[in-house]
Amino acid sequence: MIVKTTKNYLETLLSYYEDEIMGEAYFYGLADHFDEREKLSLLAIVERRTAESILPLLEKYGLTPRAELELKALGEADVERHESFTWPELMSHMVKCYPGYLDDFIALEKMAPEEDLATLTILTDHEVAAIKFAEKELIGKADSLTPLHEFLVR
Ligand SMILES: [Fe+2]
Repeated sequence: MIVKTTKNYLETLLSYYEDEIMGEAYFYGLADHFDEREKLSLLAIVERRTAESILPLLEKYGLTPRAELELKALGEADVERHESFTWPELMSHMVKCYPGYLDDFIALEKMAPEEDLATLTILTDHEVAAIKFAEKELIGKADSLTPLHEFLVR
């Protein structure tokens, strides 16, 4: 039972790391299609920082992610799903769908040993920052980037 839980934890941890690398490529790819290029680039930077932050856990468990180039290609392949969205449509998509990732991260924390929790919180924090950003964008707040900057300077 314990072994099974641990295996699931490790596989999920690795896949979430890879998702962040894909996410970086996804946002950089989207940046080519929107006027809000700098905002999307900042989201890409947040994704990279998140991946880097949980990398020590991969090293701790001897987990090897797929090659960066492979993950980048997968992230870029996702761009076409949203490249023709308007900016408000993209922001609405984030506000609607990203809380689902929060649920995933909370489920991961439940599987995790206690000593990993401080690191895993970064996953949750970056998603909260991205959702706050999109919510502020939707209502035209000038300080929409603040949640992302605050995440990056912590
Ligand atoms: Fe992410």
